[in-house]
Formats: sequence, C-alpha cells, structure tokens
Amino acid sequence: MRVRELNYRTIWPSEHGNAVEVIDQTRLPHRFEVVQLKSLADMVHAIKTMQVRGAPLIGAATAYGLALAMREHAGDEYLRQAASTLLSSRPTAVNLRWAVQRMLQCLEPASVAERADLAWREAAAICNEDVAINQAIAGHGLALLQALHEEQQRPLNILTHCNAGWLATVDWGTALAPVYAAFDAGIPVHVWVDETRPRNQGASLTAWELGQHGVPHTVITDNAGGHLMQQGRVDAVVVGADRVTRGGDVCNKIGTYLKALAAYDNDVPFYAAVPSSTIDWQIADARSEIPIEERNAEEVGHIGGRLADGTFAVIDILPAGSAVANPAFDITPARLVTGIITERGTCPPDSLPVLFPEFQP
Ligand code: MRU
Repeated sequence: MRVRELNYRTIWPSEHGNAVEVIDQTRLPHRFEVVQLKSLADMVHAIKTMQVRGAPLIGAATAYGLALAMREHAGDEYLRQAASTLLSSRPTAVNLRWAVQRMLQCLEPASVAERADLAWREAAAICNEDVAINQAIAGHGLALLQALHEEQQRPLNILTHCNAGWLATVDWGTALAPVYAAFDAGIPVHVWVDETRPRNQGASLTAWELGQHGVPHTVITDNAGGHLMQQGRVDAVVVGADRVTRGGDVCNKIGTYLKALAAYDNDVPFYAAVPSSTIDWQIADARSEIPIEERNAEEVGHIGGRLADGTFAVIDILPAGSAVANPAFDITPARLVTGIITERGTCPPDSLPVLFPEFQP
C-alpha cells in the first residue's frame, strides 16, 4: 500500500539480505519509521512490544524470526528452542502457531547446511501468499459491499474495530481489503473507526492507513457504535480476527463482542474477514480453549501522544492505587456473526468446514 506515494509492505528482507525490516507500528501515526531486525531476539522483542502486530503479520514475522534464528545456529536444538521462544511471545493470534508449524515442516527434514536459505525462502513465500490471500478476501468482500450499495443507493458506512488493515498483514489487510477494493472501484464508502482503547489501534493505525489511501473515515469512541447503529448510520460491521473456531466463533480485539451484540440488535450485518491461517481447526470451544492475552496495566493507565508543541509524552490518567485489568481479546459467538469472508469466499459462520474440507478429520 502507499505511504507518501511510495509502495510498502509491512515486512521485507533488507537490501543486503542480512536483516528484516518492518514498519515500527508503535511510532504511528506521528512518525513513520522503519526498523531493522537482525536476530531472533530482535524479532521476539518486536512482536512482544507490538512494533509488529495483527494476526497475519505476527505469522509472517514469526516465519522471519525463525529465518533469522537459522542464521544464528541451524541445529535441531536451536530450531526447537527458537520455535518455542516465538510461540510464547504472544498467545492469542493462532497465525503465530500456524507459521511455526509450517516453518518446522519445511526445516526439520532439511540438512543443517540447507536450513538458513530454505527458511529465508519459506518466510518470503508466506509473505507473498498472505498478500495473494488478502487480495482474494478483497474480491469476495467487494461483492458483498457492491450488493449492499446497490440495495442502499447511497454511500456505504462501514464500522470497523481495531486495525485489520494492511498494517495488520503483509499488505492489503483483511477487514479493510474489501473497503480499499470498494473505494478503488468507485463505490462511495465511509468508515467509522473505533478508537480501540487501550492501545488505540483504530485511532493510530486504521485512521492513518485509510487517510494515506484517501478513504473517507471518522474516528469514534469505542462506545459510539451502538448509538450510530440505532440511528441507521452503519450499513455493516467488518472486523478481522486473531482466531476463529471451526464453528465460527470469532476471537478478536477486546470490544468486538459488544459491537456484534449491538449489530445483532439493530439488524446490521456483522462480518469477520479472515485468512485460513487464522482458523483454528483443533478447538471446538472458543471460550474455554482460546488463551486471552492479559496485557500490561500500564496500557490502560497511561496514554501517549503528541503535545501541542510537537513533543511526545505519556501521561498517567488514573487515581493512585486503582486496580487495572487489561484483557486484550474477546469472543464473539457464531450466532452473532452474519458471515466469514475468507480467501475461498464468504460463508455462514458454521460452514467453514465446507469451504475448507481438507482440514476436516
Ligand atoms: O493486539 P493486536 O493489535 O495485535 O490485535 C489485532 C487485532 O485484534 C486484529 O483485529 C486482528 O489481528 C486481525 S488483523 C487482520
């Protein structure tokens, strides 16, 4: 996607092939900075601190993390250790486990001498596939938005939560890919962007990337969506996901569930756009089996941003001594989901096994 008229992905090998470069998402929207990651430790740090984030990008970063590790030591023991270090870096997005498994399948049978090159090529293949998958999601989602637009005969208002745009993937995004496709196809589209406390991925990232592409959007507080739906000012909710069960329960950024409840109550269609790498075929019960990341209290109690004089600051917003809880994801049950948009098409939440028969027992 374009940033100041240049095309970028969110992750790429450096020019001399000795490092991986990523856009530092903790600096946006005020600073656009690229950081070089030269080791497994650098990549784990980038994932933990959310310099890279979003389920598909976490998967791609994991693959490159293992590629960097194989340049450090390509022996079996280090490969297993690197895989387990990456697996513990963030718990909820299943794309991380998916990427580890895919890399291990590729690397374990190979000789130690081959592994570094092989890992680098496999990580690049995962990135290219992610882009192709998101373009397919864009096409299937576009058909839905086109149909909605024909029905409404007025500009479409899409509400999204968190950031499931190109910054959360290698390129294009999942939830925002259909929005970009609709905008590029000349369909008048406007996005309500939930700010997404506590880390503000909506306000800082979604608003920024939509702005770079010229898509009309309005940032709203996390609590405004229900009111806008009651007023008939939302035509569809489209979100991404960190993990979807085979029955169609959707685990996504905290607050998604409340949006789905409001959408259900107001007959607003609610879609999750996900690549197949986000579907966890191994679990049945989302609420008991998906590990929900509990993040630092600091994220809730403090807000960072730019002051009027242009300097940056982090301020404390809580009374001393108040306890804080910070669960980062929630589960939207399949009964509240209108459809799942995948690279193979859109289906009702309980029909994912029909679209992906090869993963069924
Ligand atoms: O904590 P984050 O910023 O990694 O959470 C990201 C989300 O919840 C996204 O909605 C999800 O990963 C889908 S990304 C296409």
